[in-house]
Amino acid sequence: MTLDHQVADLSLAVAGRHQIRLAEHEMPGLMALRAEYGPTQPLAGARIAGSLHMTVQTAVLIETLTALGAEVRWASCNIFSTQDEAAAAIAVGTGTPEDPQGVPVFAWKNETLPEYWWAASKIFDFTDENGQPIGPTMILDDGGDATLLVHRGVEFEAAGAVPPAPAEGDADYTAEYAVVLDTLRQSLATDPQRWTRIAASLRGVSEETTTGVHRLYQLAARDQLLFPAINVNDSVTKSKFDNRYGIRHSLPDGINRATDVLIGGKVAVVCGYGDVGKGAAEALRGQGARVIVTEIDPICALQAAMDGYQVATLDDVAGSGDIFITTTGNRDVIRARHMVAMKDKAIVGNIGHFDNEIDMAGLARVPGIERVEIKPQVHEWIFPEASETAQTTATEGGERRSIIVLSEGRLLNLGNATGHPSFVMSASFTNQVLAQIELYTTDVDADGEPGVHVLPKVLDEKVARLHLEALGVELTELSKDQAEYLDVDVAGPYKSEQYRY
Ligand code: NAI
Repeated sequence: MTLDHQVADLSLAVAGRHQIRLAEHEMPGLMALRAEYGPTQPLAGARIAGSLHMTVQTAVLIETLTALGAEVRWASCNIFSTQDEAAAAIAVGTGTPEDPQGVPVFAWKNETLPEYWWAASKIFDFTDENGQPIGPTMILDDGGDATLLVHRGVEFEAAGAVPPAPAEGDADYTAEYAVVLDTLRQSLATDPQRWTRIAASLRGVSEETTTGVHRLYQLAARDQLLFPAINVNDSVTKSKFDNRYGIRHSLPDGINRATDVLIGGKVAVVCGYGDVGKGAAEALRGQGARVIVTEIDPICALQAAMDGYQVATLDDVAGSGDIFITTTGNRDVIRARHMVAMKDKAIVGNIGHFDNEIDMAGLARVPGIERVEIKPQVHEWIFPEASETAQTTATEGGERRSIIVLSEGRLLNLGNATGHPSFVMSASFTNQVLAQIELYTTDVDADGEPGVHVLPKVLDEKVARLHLEALGVELTELSKDQAEYLDVDVAGPYKSEQYRY
């Protein structure tokens, strides 16, 4: 049978396979799960619809899920984040580029928005042994787009129609949402029960990131969550590692690959001082930048101050920064007025999940502004010579002033570089695999309505344990007396649920 797939170039599979092989060496958690669970196949019969950056590390995740028995279909959760060689290797699997035998994957770098939502929809197209459509048993999501499709699809199928997209200029208008509605309109026309059928087959979703988790809690609070969810992000071994140490690595990687600008000595403004912001600020300071943090939360603002950063408002520092990075998971953080006020050749990038942190539409509306592609995912926005903001439009040499925007305002570590390194993603993805096993083999909502759950602490500690040996960490063993004194088990868990690490 021909493999259902859409990738950039299957001939990249050999290069992808080499990278996957090296990544496996750096992903001890996932490899340990293959060794532990391979023989018992806990995911046999599971059908997993995955929507997560199609990188080399994700390839190791996918092949761990299949090694545990699952059938998998995959798309990326961002238009720029796919590594084409990884996608090719996953599609080819044990076959050849002429006869791919791997996992149906629908992902390539630089998708358009309609292509992105087409691919997101394709991950649900499982068929049974007679070729009839059959829904997935789980979603593995990053940012919640796959979960959103199912929820909106069910809503519109119940209503029998998809509403018109909000008009341009309306508060809730985004070009992307119009594409989502179009995607659902097409499916309603061809298969009016598609999403209802898919929702009915789902045992749940495991969600990777802060932004997706936020969407899940919103659905649960409104009693609209259609199936149980496991919040992988808030495993300590995910958010306190990937969001922080992963960013500490991949943010400078993205800035360097995009611009090659020396970070040392520059003024870098980091918007948000949560887990991602802490990693971003540390990385930039590590390169010798003078870092200024902006925050809305007094606790995080105080943490930033105690960590030695200046804390200011963006309005006050927009004109003095050289590099601006958003890490908030919030909308409209860097506005057009901030970008208009920036220094010549200031660099602007986002490392939060969605592109709405930076008002790209507002920037494009600055009268007379021009956009020049320096290279893919790096654009110079050149301000007009004279405008209402004339005092800031020209440089001293009389040239037109410009700013550099990375990845069109989308997450730059995956758009301009290759995302987090394997070792930290091993911790995140070990949590993902454990979450998928929990969803498939247990009733995570045994005591009520679909809810959002975190993995038990004992599994969080297991994930950490699986990564100690590779780093040569020698753990001190708790004695029985000490365990009794602390009122914990010798084998853990060692901390209460309230402990914040
Ligand atoms: P978090 O909730 O720990 O931190 C966000 C911080 O931003 C909070 O402290 C919040 O108070 C602050 N904030 C909100 N609005 C703000 C505003 N207008 N100005 C200044 N600060 C503001 O979230 P976390 O885990 O740090 O994640 C942040 C974003 O990064 C999310 O969208 C998440 O999904 C994404 N993410 C991206 C990754 C990547 O590889 N690019 C990896 C992990 C997470």
